[in-house]
Amino acid sequence: MVKSLRGLNILFKVLTFISLFLVTVLVAGDNQRVLDELASPTLTIPLKNALGEEEYSTAIKSGKYRYVGNTKCRLCHRKFFLGRKNDPHDFAMKSLESTGHEDNSRCLTCHSTGHGIETGFVNMQQTPRLANVQCEGCHGPGNIHITLAKDALRNKNKVFVGGGFLAGQDSPDKLKKMCSSCHTKRWDKSYHDLDKAYNRYKKANPNKR
Ligand code: HEC
Ligand code: HEC
Ligand code: HEC
Ligand code: HEC
Repeated sequence: MVKSLRGLNILFKVLTFISLFLVTVLVAGDNQRVLDELASPTLTIPLKNALGEEEYSTAIKSGKYRYVGNTKCRLCHRKFFLGRKNDPHDFAMKSLESTGHEDNSRCLTCHSTGHGIETGFVNMQQTPRLANVQCEGCHGPGNIHITLAKDALRNKNKVFVGGGFLAGQDSPDKLKKMCSSCHTKRWDKSYHDLDKAYNRYKKANPNKR
């Protein structure tokens, strides 16, 4: 009896040791990615990466595109808005807050909506409505889409052609490039099959089983 108790005690200690070891390795692993990111020379602007230098600068210089925030999308896409409330993209700022990098541009370009682009996220004080990776973080600035949609709804004869985004459903290729502009080699823990992950996000609630 005493012997088996001591055995249990040792087993318990060994298990505690193993789990502490694993936690340390995992945490250190994540910190390493952050350190590597901080040391990397270039700032990533996902939209620029997805569109290519030329299309990006023409579009942005035109001054036609603006980020409007997901509460505007909620007006017509309530199911999507609600479905995304439990998606990791909607909590992306938390990861920066928990690591003390919530004001770091190097991180914000991938963890907020449109940071580094005119009318995009600046900081929590000035632009809280664009925190986290929202609708427009994937689809691109949505002001023109909303104008087109309102027009079509007002004028019932007109056929709504959709789109208006820089990286919307109009162009799945660009939308896929958006995914991989943020989910780079360093930040690919969550998925390894782009098409599979992409298809999940066609649904309003990608996390529903
Ligand atoms: C005034 C209403 C309205 C608003 C506001 C609106 N949409 Fe739409 N949206 C529509 C309509 C209508 C369609 C056409 C397809 C459909 O019936 O679902 C559409 C289609 C889409 C599509 C797929 C079609 C495509 O070609 O791109 C996406 C993606 C989309 N909206 C995203 C958004 C996002 C993101 C926002 C906020 C920036 C937004 N919408 C705001 C009405 C709206
Ligand atoms: C603007 C950058 C950005 C874009 C664009 C983007 N993501 Fe993400 N994604 C993130 C960030 C940041 C997280 C992690 C959020 C967190 O936990 O802090 C994430 C999380 C995820 C997760 C969940 C990770 C997990 O562990 O469960 C999946 C799946 C995912 N993204 C798929 C996609 C797909 C598919 C696309 C394209 C349709 C896409 N993402 C576009 C930044 C982005
Ligand atoms: C992680 C990236 C990502 C985010 C964030 C995101 N979407 Fe999408 N969305 C997608 C992808 C991928 C598709 C599928 C496009 C296609 O059909 O190829 C899609 C499709 C859509 C469609 C068309 C659905 C259909 O049935 O044709 C609408 C509408 C839409 N999204 C609205 C929104 C709204 C509103 C938000 C914010 C509440 C949002 N999306 C956030 C990636 C995203
Ligand atoms: C190129 C885009 C990109 C940049 C830049 C970026 N991240 Fe992320 N980050 C992601 C994506 C995508 C995920 C989710 C997938 C993953 O964990 O591999 C993520 C996940 C995270 C997580 C959650 C990890 C986990 O295991 O739950 C933390 C914390 C984080 N990032 C912190 C940071 C910090 C701090 C910076 C700046 C030093 C930063 N990120 C810069 C794209 C980025």
